[in-house]
Amino acid sequence: MFARKISDRIFCLGSVDWDRRLFDALIPLPDGTSYNAYLINGSEKTVLLDAVDPPMAPELMAQLRDVPKIDFVVSHHAEQDHSGTIPKILDTYPEAKLVCTPKAKGMLVDLLQIPDEKCKTVEDGESVSLGDKTLKFIYTPWVHWPETMVTWLEEDRILFSCDFFGSHIASTDLFVTDEGRVYEAAKRYFAEIMMPFRSIIKKNLEKLALYPIEMIAPSHGQIYANPAFILDAYNDWVNGTPKNVVVLPYVSMHESTKQMVDHLVASLVDKGVRVELFNLAVTDIGKLAMALVDAATIVVGTPTVLAGPHPYAAYAAFLANALRPEAKFLSIVGSYGWGGKTVEILAGMIPNLKVEVLDPVLCKGVPSQATFTGLDELAATIAKKHAENGFT
Ligand code: FEO
Repeated sequence: MFARKISDRIFCLGSVDWDRRLFDALIPLPDGTSYNAYLINGSEKTVLLDAVDPPMAPELMAQLRDVPKIDFVVSHHAEQDHSGTIPKILDTYPEAKLVCTPKAKGMLVDLLQIPDEKCKTVEDGESVSLGDKTLKFIYTPWVHWPETMVTWLEEDRILFSCDFFGSHIASTDLFVTDEGRVYEAAKRYFAEIMMPFRSIIKKNLEKLALYPIEMIAPSHGQIYANPAFILDAYNDWVNGTPKNVVVLPYVSMHESTKQMVDHLVASLVDKGVRVELFNLAVTDIGKLAMALVDAATIVVGTPTVLAGPHPYAAYAAFLANALRPEAKFLSIVGSYGWGGKTVEILAGMIPNLKVEVLDPVLCKGVPSQATFTGLDELAATIAKKHAENGFT
């Protein structure tokens, strides 16, 4: 991709990664992603905001071929998909100063071995003039590392937000064209890396509300010409109460647990509760994370294996514990052969979840009529709890 003009002397650089399918060796990227860097030519100074993932360095360097001078390189976030090419930029433009938060400085020195003297740290709210354009740096910690900040371009009212408001989408569209598609990708991204820091992100949103913002330019995905769309979505995700939804990750070995899960799903639906069902043997964990944003109840379905939960169920419990969703209730259903400590082990894996544990439904071997009755009772309890709490 060539450099693309956003507005007067402001350009989007970077790279669209159509082929990437996994981030951090963990997070699925079904739609690829992009690493957006931005170039602003002020009347006196030029700044590059963020860079790209190291394998994409040749594309960024080609986009900069006709840029004779860069005065500042801003690193909003030290993670390598945005910072990994910064050493190459600093080698090419030795006069450039690397602008970052004090926390980011330490990380950039450790992760990229950038010389200490190259860095210019900025305080929260500090401004740097490019002549006729002014960069204002706003600390927005924990989106999703502790050092993160954003830049507000005062005269143009553009917010450069790095991971904040980003979405993993590969597209040639510079601006958001399909809000439905971007909503899902942005929610998935929020769920995967920002949900654990909801309360801090809420404070960050309150801080940003003080600034007039006419455009949001993130470092993944497309630019928002209608910022209210993504600001409203984020406010909903950080403020929203759980919805009348059960998220039900499960795994089954010989169909007994599956029979129980199928019955529970039918019984919940019959009682007016929505269910998001995930077979952990085949599921996309990004979808599971996204569903957890809205879940009022989590029910884990697992057989007992080697005296404990199936490893896939343990993985889901570990993930849920790390993501800290707002769910209020949790239960476990499943079949066992001769015994074990499935419930105790799973319950011990979720100390971060502030949930009321509802009586689990377990059965020996294949489910009996008594098992199905127990599942109906669990469904009725969940429906009642959701109604009592006003979850809709
Ligand atoms: Fe896109 Fe946290 O890096």
